[in-house]
Amino acid sequence: MDTQASFRYEQLAELIIGMIDNGTLAPGTRLPSVRAVSEQHNISISTALQAYRLLEDRGVLVARPQSGFYVSTPQRGTLALPSTSRARSKASTVSISGAVAMLLDHASNTALVPLGCAVPDAALLQSNRLDAALARAARQHGAQYNVYSAAQGEADLRREIAKRAMRIGHALSPDDILITSGCTEAITLALTSVATRGDTIAIESPTYVGLLHTLEVLGLKAVELPTDPSRGIDIGALAHLLETERVAACVLSSSFNNPLGSTMADADKHELLAVLAQHGVPLIEDDVYGDIYFGRERPKPFIALDGGANTIYCSSFSKSLAPGYRIGWIVAGAWMQQVKDRKLAFSLCSPTLPQVALAAFLASGNYDAHLRSLRRQFQQNLAQMTRTIEASFPAETKVSRPAGGIFLWIELPRRFDSRELFDKALDLGICFAPGDVFSASRRFRNCLRLSAGHSWNDSIEAGVRRLGQLAKTMLAR
Ligand SMILES: Cc1ncc(COP(=O)(O)O)c(C=O)c1O
Repeated sequence: MDTQASFRYEQLAELIIGMIDNGTLAPGTRLPSVRAVSEQHNISISTALQAYRLLEDRGVLVARPQSGFYVSTPQRGTLALPSTSRARSKASTVSISGAVAMLLDHASNTALVPLGCAVPDAALLQSNRLDAALARAARQHGAQYNVYSAAQGEADLRREIAKRAMRIGHALSPDDILITSGCTEAITLALTSVATRGDTIAIESPTYVGLLHTLEVLGLKAVELPTDPSRGIDIGALAHLLETERVAACVLSSSFNNPLGSTMADADKHELLAVLAQHGVPLIEDDVYGDIYFGRERPKPFIALDGGANTIYCSSFSKSLAPGYRIGWIVAGAWMQQVKDRKLAFSLCSPTLPQVALAAFLASGNYDAHLRSLRRQFQQNLAQMTRTIEASFPAETKVSRPAGGIFLWIELPRRFDSRELFDKALDLGICFAPGDVFSASRRFRNCLRLSAGHSWNDSIEAGVRRLGQLAKTMLAR
């Protein structure tokens, strides 16, 4: 449902969805009569009825003759969770660049229904406020910032990030932080600091396609670890790997991994850290989705559990505030000097003005309110998407139930080919991410990832439905 809903019936529908998603209206609850709701909200009976009918069409409410409208009993959770991926024992080189370029090309095409790219719609971000901060900084001190800044980045921005570190449960000083060009550069700096060409890196499976691309370009090999949609990677498999093979580093998501959405429990994170420390293998963690959590508390990143002793932390503002500013950061602990050297060698420093503007925005205190509303929005988007999948995809479909992030991972029976679905969908103007781009060994061809970074609207809903219908037709052949 669109948060900028312009019609009264859309606003009412949105309100009801919010109450269902936050648990106020439980499944099976009878809604107030159309007359009562029209009086409560000071709208006409036909407007109230239009809202109820819209929600009925979307499968959110069911109408019972002579009785009224009820919250539909959960379809949510009726579809099973995707399977845990299987172990792949051999380290392999990665060859994914063609697939990445193809996906990014389509995912950035604004003419397509946007289910392909795991990025929030700019309309949901604080672009106006950031623009104003940028313009102010340029107007007041433009020439002053038209210089090389320190390789480590602007002190004000590092201070703001350090202040926020209390929320992740790990005290940081500005000196612990180096500003990067997005999380992507943070991961590149980390990998080049701890590994050299030909080394093996342990990763989740499925994993973020951009990480695979980075491994390919750096000439690093990948070992894909079995990963469960709710519990994360199989620690036993990691321990076995480390006993049998030299691994230079392990790269994991801190929470809500892309694309599975899994997050490890704190106890498992502790166990994993112990296994890595025992073998002297550093952990590079990617916490780019950490602030997009739907539960009460932000999940703790690994660095908060080992105090940074064996962890390199990477994150950015790309998923929550400003993907176009390309601002991320790295906390590299014992590897900080190597990371600084590489930052200097690769790019000298990051552009100054965007850092100054972002620091001013963070200092204004608006970020937390923004995050709260973004989380609510993404949670609602994913709930809507789940409902639509349940209503339109084949009965054998499995779907993830992430507690944060902005995407769902869908698994269909083995014979299903998401590449074929991808081509058909593009012809219909719909983009999504086919499953095989998330694996070094090009597995998961029967899977797909749908992103929900845009406000829910009729075109997105129709796009998801269409994918479900196509999948049904393909499986029925
Ligand atoms: C897991 C993960 N890490 C990193 C990135 C890239 O982050 P940035 O835009 O900050 O470079 C993405 C973007 O999709 C991602 O999903």
